[in-house]
Amino acid sequence: MGTVILGTGSCLPKKVVTNLDLEKIVDTSDEWIRTRTGIETRRVGGAGEKTYQIASAAAHEALIMSGLRVDEIDLLIVGTISSHMLMPSCACFVQKEIGAFNAFAYDVNAACSGFLYGLDIGDKQIRADHDAKVLVIGAETLSSRLNWQDRNTCIVFGDGAGAAVLGYSAEEHREVVGVNYFSDGRLWELLYMHNSPSTNPELRVEDNPGVHIVMEGREVFKHAVKAMEDAVLGLLEKTGIAIGDIDLVIPHQANMRILNKVLERLELPKEKVVLNVMKYGNTSAASIPIALDETNRADKLKRGDLVLFCAFGGGFTWGATLLRW
Ligand code: COA
Repeated sequence: MGTVILGTGSCLPKKVVTNLDLEKIVDTSDEWIRTRTGIETRRVGGAGEKTYQIASAAAHEALIMSGLRVDEIDLLIVGTISSHMLMPSCACFVQKEIGAFNAFAYDVNAACSGFLYGLDIGDKQIRADHDAKVLVIGAETLSSRLNWQDRNTCIVFGDGAGAAVLGYSAEEHREVVGVNYFSDGRLWELLYMHNSPSTNPELRVEDNPGVHIVMEGREVFKHAVKAMEDAVLGLLEKTGIAIGDIDLVIPHQANMRILNKVLERLELPKEKVVLNVMKYGNTSAASIPIALDETNRADKLKRGDLVLFCAFGGGFTWGATLLRW
């Protein structure tokens, strides 16, 4: 008994951008992108598909599945680093859009770990108040935060949103079994995004290249593999669960090579791992809830299944959650 996911939803922008489309923008090739990242296509937002709009569409789907009314939601969290405004939060825009006026709403800035950090906050809220209902969303339009001349980054990321409604279940063996979360601000320079230039000259940051993602790909790769592996092993140790007992793994869809390395090190068979990075690229905070929703709607989750989530992102932020479905 404990926190359970009552409903999931997702929303992907309509426009599909292929690797061949990117060949026309930067000096790259379909072959290079496929072999280095596994990515074949990604979605890019258009009119009516701002971060809060796709987040709201995903939330709507999750609410329908949960069977709850929108006015039953007490807390609304959005993991995002690409809201169209700095203030109000994306979560407040979602609140307005879907009419969740009994909730308090805020964003979590944890880059690609944003959804899992939100899930953890939601779980703790529900542990404190068993009647609480929490809507957790991961949503990004990173296409608005990319330097489209930078072939290191513009090939990797994509847009999308996913959502989960959390509540309490008194049923035996359904719960968040354990979590293992970390961050390390010392490594920020390997993956970051500036703000717009300060209007106070005293506070101006030197060498601000603009509001877009800057990444040391090779270094990020190494840290991501090690961090996710360690977070999962630490979580298994904490919970006393063996890797072989896990039924399904839903990892952050960073890229195929990172995921292959993590699976190899953890000795996890590919059949147990949800992979959709080929279709959507790295959608940051949205990647786990999109993959979760696709898995859930394909009826691949059974009551009592042990589901492992793990993520890594800018900050650095990383960690893992184990949930009994
Ligand atoms: N197309 C073609 N060539 C490219 C390219 C592209 N899109 N991007 C980089 N290159 C070139 C580089 O300029 C370099 O050329 P050089 O040897 O002549 O200097 C060469 O390819 C190798 O570059 P490198 O950056 O070392 O490539 P890589 O094998 O590390 O692959 C990434 C690049 C970005 C795919 C890889 O580092 C990676 O996956 N990093 C992690 C990214 C990530 O997941 N971030 C989010 C974490 S949440």
